[in-house]
Amino acid sequence: MNEQYHIPVLLDQVVASVQPETAEVILDLCLGDGGYSLELLKKMPATSLVVGVDRDAEAINRAGKRLMSYGHRFRTLKGNFRDVGKLLAGINIFKVDGIIVDLGISLLQIRDAAKGFSYARSGPLSMQMGDDSAINAEVVVNEFSEEKLANIFWEFGEERASRRLARAIVSRRREKRFETTGDLASVVYDMKLRYPVKTLARLFQSIRIFVNDELESLKLVLPQAVELLKKSRRLAVLSYHSGEDKITKQFMNEMAKFCICPPDFPVCRCNKKASLKIVHRLIVPSAEEIEKNPNSRSAKLRVAEKI
Ligand SMILES: C[S@@+](CC[C@H](N)C(=O)[O-])C[C@H]1O[C@@H](n2cnc3c(N)ncnc32)[C@H](O)[C@@H]1O
Repeated sequence: MNEQYHIPVLLDQVVASVQPETAEVILDLCLGDGGYSLELLKKMPATSLVVGVDRDAEAINRAGKRLMSYGHRFRTLKGNFRDVGKLLAGINIFKVDGIIVDLGISLLQIRDAAKGFSYARSGPLSMQMGDDSAINAEVVVNEFSEEKLANIFWEFGEERASRRLARAIVSRRREKRFETTGDLASVVYDMKLRYPVKTLARLFQSIRIFVNDELESLKLVLPQAVELLKKSRRLAVLSYHSGEDKITKQFMNEMAKFCICPPDFPVCRCNKKASLKIVHRLIVPSAEEIEKNPNSRSAKLRVAEKI
């Protein structure tokens, strides 16, 4: 794997899970650097198509160049995957043979200081994945109330010091408005916490998830994915945060249930039919993969099949 690109997590398992050898069209809904798309294209029939979606125009350009040699077999769509039904209808695709959702951000996005995702490289307080977010991190940290900040740090970062952190941020901004990720990181270092880097990671993750409305996008894309899949074809979701994994797990379990009548009903009255079958309840990276790519350590892969 070329080190200049994002290293795709659980690459073999993800690609195999959507059965590329027999697929006509597969959607890579978090295209990034196209790590999965590339492997899919190698394994899919010569007449097949991979469609890559990303909110980030730079990711679309980079993956477009990387996979240029596949010509018409690879198409990109710039947009939020929460609109996937509409995006695909725009290119006359209504059914697909596999869907991959690899949540979060790519290594290149983190490394690009201008995007403001990094506490290690100071940049503007943006944290927007694309140009479709209604808000940026600068507004969040400078204008939200202490209580709202604490809730964001707790809900999306599971940061135990969420209240202290919110208090410290509000106190610092009375002196000077936050402008850079470095300004924000300095508050955490000044708190003299035992593990400042862990808190920084959780703080930045929580603001990023909020700014990009990531959990809501996931809730909106999952039912559309089921709708788009042909029968007996699969959806693979890779998450890196407990909130994302909880949404995915609950959705797949719910879709895999038949009757949801109360247990004391003698006969079924709801007539609910399952629309998914769970194929892989949970796959996580091996110790070897985590050693090679520490960014994979929190990954959780769930795979379900349309029935
Ligand atoms: C973990 S990276 C994907 C890396 C990719 N699988 C690879 O191998 O290079 C996640 C990508 O999904 C994109 N993304 C995240 N949420 C999105 C959404 N709601 N709509 C579209 N793209 C999204 C991000 O911009 C980022 O490029």
